[in-house]
Amino acid sequence: MHHVFVPASAGAAIPIQCVTAATWSDVRSRLEPHACAFADSAGFEPRPGRHLFLPDPQGAFARVLFGVDAPRQPAPDRFIAGKLPGLLPPGIYRLVDAPDPRLSALAFALGSYRFDQYRKSEDRQVRLALPDGVDGDDLARMIDGVLLARDLINTPANDMGPAELEAAVRRVADRHGASVRSVIGEKLMGENFPLIHAVGRAAAATPRLIDMTWGEPRAPKVTLIGKGVCFDSGGLDIKPESAMLLMKKDMGGAATVLALAQMIMARGLDVRLRVLIPAVENAIAGNAFRPRDVYRARNGLTVEVGNTDAEGRLVLADALALADEEGPEFLVCMGTLTGAARVALGPDLPPFYTHDDTLAQAVARHAAAENDPVWRLPLWGPYDSMLESKVADLNNVATGGFAGSIICALFLNRFVAAAKAFVHFDIYAWTPTAKSGRPEGGECQAARALYALLCDRYGG
Ligand code: BES
Ligand code: MN
Ligand code: ZN
Repeated sequence: MHHVFVPASAGAAIPIQCVTAATWSDVRSRLEPHACAFADSAGFEPRPGRHLFLPDPQGAFARVLFGVDAPRQPAPDRFIAGKLPGLLPPGIYRLVDAPDPRLSALAFALGSYRFDQYRKSEDRQVRLALPDGVDGDDLARMIDGVLLARDLINTPANDMGPAELEAAVRRVADRHGASVRSVIGEKLMGENFPLIHAVGRAAAATPRLIDMTWGEPRAPKVTLIGKGVCFDSGGLDIKPESAMLLMKKDMGGAATVLALAQMIMARGLDVRLRVLIPAVENAIAGNAFRPRDVYRARNGLTVEVGNTDAEGRLVLADALALADEEGPEFLVCMGTLTGAARVALGPDLPPFYTHDDTLAQAVARHAAAENDPVWRLPLWGPYDSMLESKVADLNNVATGGFAGSIICALFLNRFVAAAKAFVHFDIYAWTPTAKSGRPEGGECQAARALYALLCDRYGG
């Protein structure tokens, strides 16, 4: 169980009485007279996110009133309990009449997160008694995964380069008996990963392909690929300062698939899991790859570099080609690939792409159930021609700048042929302004949804 939770049996916990506009008069009528008078005189309104501490007759802290959204509202904030850790004094609490006890407890734990690697923030010891009927172990698997991803994303590039990312993978692998192999530096050429080499070779930090496997060799093959660009300067097509400022998060796809892998292994799903992370820094030096360079990718396609800042799809292309060679049953790709995805759907709603309608529906269903939202966009075949190059099989960018996220997905799709199912997520991996259960900073998007989907399929 995660450290934010205490067992339901732990004894005296301060009740957090959840109220809506509809339940308030009933709740109010059941309060002791002094508490009722206190709430009235303090002007408590049962609006979402409002809170009030109530005293007992001796004046001691006895209860919390907390306004939540009614479940049937058009867009209830289902993580609203994630606001509580920031509002409450240290203590042990329990939720009363929470609309969705499991999601509320999850939000509470996710909202307790602080990135304190570089500045010790004291542990405020705000604890929650696990609501009745909630599987604390399964919740803990999700929470530990999310917090791992957030920590990795929040860690700046000077402490989270390709080697440190590999070390993080090895730490997770060691805990679960997975094996890790990595192809480093010039060996990338020897083992035919020309695009990972091209993108990563200018950096002082050596590029690599990290390859983790776990599980029964005969179990269904599930392969996760994450973009591990530890810093994205843009390369020779250098980014302006405002765009470069956040680019420590450009390994968000790698962090997220590692988080998902950790959830899968901790749960012991019946899969043969493989995680592939091309880990590079997109840097500038005399040996940097250039606009209009042409490289032959692992799968034999020649790729013209229209823009060195479209580096993520390049490194993923070689990893996808490798994954595809064993024809996995389920192939997932994730990365912080385009600013266009954020323009289209905003930072909190990553688009995903697949040709498989049944899979898309399952993803959407689990995303809704887990409050881990994603939105399907089309792999729009007619736009494939926008990737045409005058000299190579394809360009890494389209001219015109239309449909940037779709174009990127179409590019990646050219490196997948044998996988039985393929889904790609263009994530943002960052919360720009804090929301309930989602503190500002690195965020783990779509992993909980995928974990729930995989538990459904392979959970036994
Ligand atoms: N890592 C960026 C994408 C990105 C930028 C994600 C900002 C989130 C916020 C990616 O490598 C990139 O630079 N993409 C380019 C692609 C373009 C050159 C076709 C972009 O989106 O501008
Ligand atoms: Mn880029
Ligand atoms: Zn990038």
